[in-house]
Amino acid sequence: MAFIFNGIYNTPMAYFIEFIDVTKSFDDRKVLDGVSFGVEEGETFAILGPSGVGKTVTLTLAVGLFKPDSGKIIVDGEDITKMSERELAPVRRKVQLIFQSGALFDSLTVWENVGFPLTDAGEHDDVVEKKVREYLELVEIEDAANLMPSELSTGMKRAVAIARGVAAQPKAILYDEPTTMVDPLMSQTINKLIRKMQRQLNLTQMVVTHDIANCAEKVADHVALLNQGKFVFIGTMDELYKSDHPVVKEFVEEDRIRFEKDKELA
Ligand SMILES: Nc1ncnc2c1ncn2[C@@H]1O[C@H](COP(=O)(O)OP(=O)(O)OP(=O)(O)O)[C@@H](O)[C@H]1O
Ligand SMILES: [Mg+2]
Repeated sequence: MAFIFNGIYNTPMAYFIEFIDVTKSFDDRKVLDGVSFGVEEGETFAILGPSGVGKTVTLTLAVGLFKPDSGKIIVDGEDITKMSERELAPVRRKVQLIFQSGALFDSLTVWENVGFPLTDAGEHDDVVEKKVREYLELVEIEDAANLMPSELSTGMKRAVAIARGVAAQPKAILYDEPTTMVDPLMSQTINKLIRKMQRQLNLTQMVVTHDIANCAEKVADHVALLNQGKFVFIGTMDELYKSDHPVVKEFVEEDRIRFEKDKELA
């Protein structure tokens, strides 16, 4: 673990994930244009931003699924920027990325999906049995153990994906839009699970979302707002709401209007 004096919060801080001046383009479009941030060990860090701004790209860079064009990405004290696929395998076990779709194995039951990382790691059947039960309880879906992914709601698929992520015994979990496309009640459940992972398992977490009131506000210790390739804000939730930055104010206001409208419809 590296202790680095950082310019963001102005204190010496142990970062679990750090981006230093990262750029990433696709064709001639610069999606990330010199992005720097640090996720402290044990915190939940949310990246906010509108659709297409580069949130998912940021998460995939953090586990080496994309390589940056320039800059550095440090995970748990290791520079992963130039790592080979083989070197990245343990990083991807340590940092579990939960995709929006859940990306479950369609032909396996919920139980088998959650057990997969354990059997893959060569765990004994009785250990697998005990741990799968424990993780299903942790995400509160014990009753769905024998169902197939196609029989689950979007929100339940995400809960299974979280349980499968936890089964890999990671140090960090990254969530891509955990509350998108689920109803407000299920959003609350997922937010509660994200909090629980941090508190009960001491995991470091990143959440990318376009949703402040329905997600970031409920789970994040620090938030960052991505806009046109750069972070225009990094700070606490409180500081976000108090910010005078015009882009921050507009984003917060749009979120508030959307939240009020959703409440009326619910
Ligand atoms: N594999 C890829 N090849 C080419 N362009 C890509 C690729 N992945 C992402 N992009 C582009 O990068 C930009 C940012 O995409 P990204 O998926 O990170 O956005 P996002 O913030 O996650 O949006 P959303 O909220 O809709 O999920 C988009 O313009 C997208 O077209
Ligand atoms: Mg995305």
